[in-house]
Amino acid sequence: MAYILGIESSCDDTSAAVLKDTLLLSNVMASQEVHKKYGGVVPELASRAHQQNIVPVVSQALDLAGIGIREVHAIAFTRGPGLLGSLLVGTSFAKGLSLSTGTPVIEVNHLTGHVLSHFIDVPSPSGTGTEPASGRKPDFPFLCLLVSGGHTQILKVKAPLAYEILGQTIDDAVGEAFDKGAKLLGLEYPGGPQIDRLAREGDPEKFPFARPRIENLDFSFSGVKTSFLYFLRDMQAQDPGFIASNQAHLAAGLQKTLIDILTEKVIRAVKMTGIKRVALAGGVSANSGLRTRMILESGKRNWDMFIPPLRFTTDNAAMIAITGYYKWLEGRTSGLDIAPVTRSSLMPGE
Ligand code: KG4
Ligand code: ZN
Repeated sequence: MAYILGIESSCDDTSAAVLKDTLLLSNVMASQEVHKKYGGVVPELASRAHQQNIVPVVSQALDLAGIGIREVHAIAFTRGPGLLGSLLVGTSFAKGLSLSTGTPVIEVNHLTGHVLSHFIDVPSPSGTGTEPASGRKPDFPFLCLLVSGGHTQILKVKAPLAYEILGQTIDDAVGEAFDKGAKLLGLEYPGGPQIDRLAREGDPEKFPFARPRIENLDFSFSGVKTSFLYFLRDMQAQDPGFIASNQAHLAAGLQKTLIDILTEKVIRAVKMTGIKRVALAGGVSANSGLRTRMILESGKRNWDMFIPPLRFTTDNAAMIAITGYYKWLEGRTSGLDIAPVTRSSLMPGE
């Protein structure tokens, strides 16, 4: 049995979680409201807020789990990708804690964390026993559509820590496309959830936007963004109230375009690999339109579909702790000379 403390600080949420093997005992999150008025994450403000939050967040996670720091077997932390200043807070804190307690640290790739969120167990609602947080855990190999603010990838997951990238974005991440589109509509950051909310009231067919033509499993979203921008500019020139009076239709049209692009590639990936187990992961997998569409396609095409519970879609430390647990099983601890990596040169699974 192992207690794993997970620490996540890659972007603008400070989070800590404790697992007992795969069972989640606590998952504490401090979200940073400070970025809202700037329309995006301001790296320096994010680092400072992490610095303020990290001690109380970790203490609370340990308290809720009912254990002391000396009972922890390993401290898993996000090494990257993410913002350097943000990653430095979590990394330095984990190393300091390790030095003072003798507990080993385990570096975790944030992207692996998103994928392995499907393997977290939670106490069952009846209070007796435990159950997978996602209802069921996918068997290996499975395909994972990893969609977040920084990444868009289709992965073949061969084992908890063995991945192959089948396709990925050649420009923006889909979360960025949601957020930038939302900004053009005058919505608050982060825009993805706002687009999701507005899209429910709009007609997705009213305003169609350009889709890229890419033959392989890679994605491109910059063309959609440009087409959206030019369309809004032209229409606003004719009618300055155009965006205000069509916000819901515009959100629905943009969301449908983005979901169509993602869905088409997943269908192609299933055809190419013959693997019919498909999982969603990452912040954009919170999108209700994407979830509904994937359930629909999986029903039509006989896929086994795995959709994470909402609280494990966006950044959280439980996913870092579960990845730490799998690395712990393999004895893969890290040295105290470890430093953050901001870019995704880290391969998922590493
Ligand atoms: O995984 P995540 O929390 O952070 C990164 O690793 O990037 O993903 C954040 C992204 C943001 O772009 C946010 O707008 C998007 O996920 N997002 C959504 C929804 N909830 C979060 N996008 C569309 N619909 C949502 N409901
Ligand atoms: Zn993330």
